[in-house]
Amino acid sequence: MTARASKLSPLADAAPIGGFFEQHTPEPGSGPTVLEAWTEGRPYAAFVNARSAFAALVAGFPDAAVWLPAYLCAEMGQAAQARIRFYGVGQAFEPDLSGVEAQARTGDVVLAVSHFGLPFAPGLFDLARRRPDLRFVEDRAQALDAGPGMEGAWRLYSPRKLMGVADGGLLVAPKSGGRVPRPGHLADAEALWTAPRLRAADRAGRDRAVWHLANQAREARMSCTGQAITPQSLSILSAAPLAPLARARMSNWRRLDDRLSGWSALPGAAASPPLGYVLKLEPARRERLLRGLYEARIFAAVHWTSIAAPDAAFPREAHLSQTLVTLPCDHRYGARDMDRIADCVLDLLG
Ligand SMILES: Cc1ncc(COP(=O)(O)O)c(C=O)c1O
Repeated sequence: MTARASKLSPLADAAPIGGFFEQHTPEPGSGPTVLEAWTEGRPYAAFVNARSAFAALVAGFPDAAVWLPAYLCAEMGQAAQARIRFYGVGQAFEPDLSGVEAQARTGDVVLAVSHFGLPFAPGLFDLARRRPDLRFVEDRAQALDAGPGMEGAWRLYSPRKLMGVADGGLLVAPKSGGRVPRPGHLADAEALWTAPRLRAADRAGRDRAVWHLANQAREARMSCTGQAITPQSLSILSAAPLAPLARARMSNWRRLDDRLSGWSALPGAAASPPLGYVLKLEPARRERLLRGLYEARIFAAVHWTSIAAPDAAFPREAHLSQTLVTLPCDHRYGARDMDRIADCVLDLLG
């Protein structure tokens, strides 16, 4: 425990904030459920994770190159492997699409990512208009509600990043239709659900070591397979209204922004529910912050420990992954939790 962190609340007893989600209990409410809002009545396929859904989609276009943003989790690279081409991503997470526009061939797949839940960049809409011969996929893995998408685009979701389900990778067909690939066999639900259930049974976080290990085991099971989502996850997505989840993220983000905006990595105020409150710090300072937060039982995330593209070819994107910290601001938490996070961050950075 550092002297600095010890000025804060009693750390060993403090309830943990952040980290993976415990099993979600949908509250009754009105408005579209998460599944309704994400699929908008279109055909969809529900795989065990997003990389599997993406792999199944691109397998249907064997001659296409697959264009990925260089700043992306390494796992998505597994889905397309030898066919990958990368495009750059700027400091404000805006895609540099000049290479795609100039070099992509008819039928190529372009993955557009809503980084941290940000709305899709205007440049993507322009490209989709100018190159209707390309296939666009909107990666909404970090986005509860990133707003409108591109005409004719597929959508991809990974709900366990945003709420308490064990698994899931939803692939939603374009408005204009399209044959949706089907998952082959069921995933091992018992194994996938162990961690979210253990955490749900331990609100105070006394047995963190146990559920943290179980979560690592779950993530280690995640690979690029043809497995289907577990029925338990699909049932929660079908029952949970989206609006309260989105509202909480927005108000928690604003609460943190009141105090931490000097370090914010997002371009301006959040216009759509963010994945988290993203700070940008030089690497050594970031490491110190992460360590201090950990000691205070605040579990921030790093996106990502390694990126899909080679660091040497994409140093700007590699640098992003060494400088960002994602603080939790999701629906499990309220104003007091955000104040605890902000106090701790300011104390550690002070
Ligand atoms: C933006 C983005 N897309 C896709 C994925 C892959 O999701 P999954 O773990 O469900 O395969 C990730 C994983 O970190 C991600 O961050």
